[in-house]
Amino acid sequence: MITSTGGQRAPQAKIILSRLCRRFLLLATCAFASLVHATEVPALLLQNISGRSTTDLDGTWQVIVDQFEAGAGLRLYENAKAQTPHDLVEYNFDASGTLQVPGDWNSQRGELLFYEDSIWYKKSFSFTKRSKSRVFVYFGAANYRATVYLNGERVGEHQGGFTPFNFEVTNQIHDGDNFLIVEVNNQRKPENVPGLMTDFWNYGGLTRNVSLVEVPQTFIQDYWIQLAKGSLNEIDGWVKLEGANSPQQVTLEIAEAGIKRQLLTDDKGYAHFHFPAKLTLWSPENPKLYEVMLTTASDAVLDRIGFRSIEARGSKIFLNGQPILLRGICLHEEAPFRGGKAFSEEDDETLLRWVRELGGNYVRLVHYPHNEKMVRLADRLGLLVWEEIPVYWATAWENPATLENAKRQLDEVIARDHNRAAVALWSVANETPLDPARLVFLQALVSQARSLDNTRLITAALNHFDRPAPDTIALTDPLADVLDVIGLNEYLGWYGPDRMEACDAMKWILPNGKPLIASEFGGGAQFGNHGDLDTRWTEEFQANLYKHQLAMLRKIPSLAGYSPWVLMDFRSPRRLLPGVQDYYNRKGLISDRGNRKQAFYVLQEFYGRIKQAADAAGN
Ligand code: GCU
Repeated sequence: MITSTGGQRAPQAKIILSRLCRRFLLLATCAFASLVHATEVPALLLQNISGRSTTDLDGTWQVIVDQFEAGAGLRLYENAKAQTPHDLVEYNFDASGTLQVPGDWNSQRGELLFYEDSIWYKKSFSFTKRSKSRVFVYFGAANYRATVYLNGERVGEHQGGFTPFNFEVTNQIHDGDNFLIVEVNNQRKPENVPGLMTDFWNYGGLTRNVSLVEVPQTFIQDYWIQLAKGSLNEIDGWVKLEGANSPQQVTLEIAEAGIKRQLLTDDKGYAHFHFPAKLTLWSPENPKLYEVMLTTASDAVLDRIGFRSIEARGSKIFLNGQPILLRGICLHEEAPFRGGKAFSEEDDETLLRWVRELGGNYVRLVHYPHNEKMVRLADRLGLLVWEEIPVYWATAWENPATLENAKRQLDEVIARDHNRAAVALWSVANETPLDPARLVFLQALVSQARSLDNTRLITAALNHFDRPAPDTIALTDPLADVLDVIGLNEYLGWYGPDRMEACDAMKWILPNGKPLIASEFGGGAQFGNHGDLDTRWTEEFQANLYKHQLAMLRKIPSLAGYSPWVLMDFRSPRRLLPGVQDYYNRKGLISDRGNRKQAFYVLQEFYGRIKQAADAAGN
């Protein structure tokens, strides 16, 4: 129904004219968009697709490597076939090789290890749509820019390599045979997020699961169900229906807690609620999850949600009203043993169980949102999570499109994970330069994160220090003023002139009244390389460095958590030392082949001791 402002119906002629104008504008926009890489805001992000009716499109996809981006001009997305001997068609998906989805292309083919440009993926599938249903194509992520076509028609584009997106394809999908084509381009650009330079591999491709999601005309699009801020016995939240044009009944049921609430949506499709609840609270010691069922007349979504409160009070972090010391480690989304992007339950399970084996109760997922399974597994295993968007090192601070991109990635990760008890911290950046434009950029992200979610802690990893005296380091970064928790990245004893013994007498001047997480520290070692305590790249050097670092950090009064750098060796284009690094960052406590280095046991012993001390102190 088209109405003018004020709700009165516009005269018929006006309706036709406005429809024609809108159609023309839409066609013009699509035509223009197909020429440039305009980024539409993806359709409404579907919450929790694992709790819905989905068709899995994972597996073998046909691919065409398109290093000079000729594909759009050749209209690869039409998947044309020569009909006569005279026809000119200069591509053929059927004869161009395959890649597995999910998975990066770099680790699937030797010749693609360093590849940074476009690859076109094609998946043919048959489908039968239920009557009156709506269909979305959902991507767990694609690095870096994905342009999606269904049956030859462009359905949308997404930028950002680590967050989910979906497009509605109700009008493009056929009953019977279909073909889905996606151009993925992983070129690094200064205006991207991240920018040109990273100390992690630029794994390109359809790196996470792809599925079709079928929903009714009116469906449960999103919901937020958590403890009310500052409470341990009240549930607060909302459910959002899409497609409703009148108030709808929604039933929220948490049967194990004896909760069943009837809700009614408003004219925007939202039903808000706030009610008392007697719950077993989620914690690392007891990661209690409840089955939460949402039903409407036409839709039903089941989720498993934990309820806990997380707060910063003074220089401590409180979980469920008790101070907690975070014992963790940094973790890249790198597949153990096989290398490449981690994407499977098995990859994630191996990595997070190593964190538990260390005695960890927390993990910093660096430097970008990891796959959803990783966060849901942290929910189940009882690991608190620091999630981060890839605003990393040099970024185009003065480019409005870059800020919009960072905001959208923040939107998407908070939209995907805002029901995960494990997620305690949203980080807006890692190691960004002191610069007025950077401060404005990051303050905008901090306020956006806080407006989207005022129940979790906002942080960033900072690394700018003054050195007022040889034995004194002062963290000086104005961004600290707007953070709930300060992340401190320092590499005393590895980078810079100080030897590791300088840790022993080092004094720290830190922003007062806020909890501090030692978000990065450590050094490199090659597994199996042994020597004296002073020989770099030996396991003994790394282990000794950890002993000095941990003893120093433990003396910092406002220290509320540790996440040393890094659980496992990972690929990086910046690590060029042959025979030692071979394009791997070797600061892992575990090698990329799963071998534990001596420093693993130093940290494990340390965490055992501080856990005992914390238990003895009753917190
Ligand atoms: C930096 C950065 C990491 C990097 C690490 C290193 O602090 O945050 O991404 O890998 O140090 O130099 O190894």
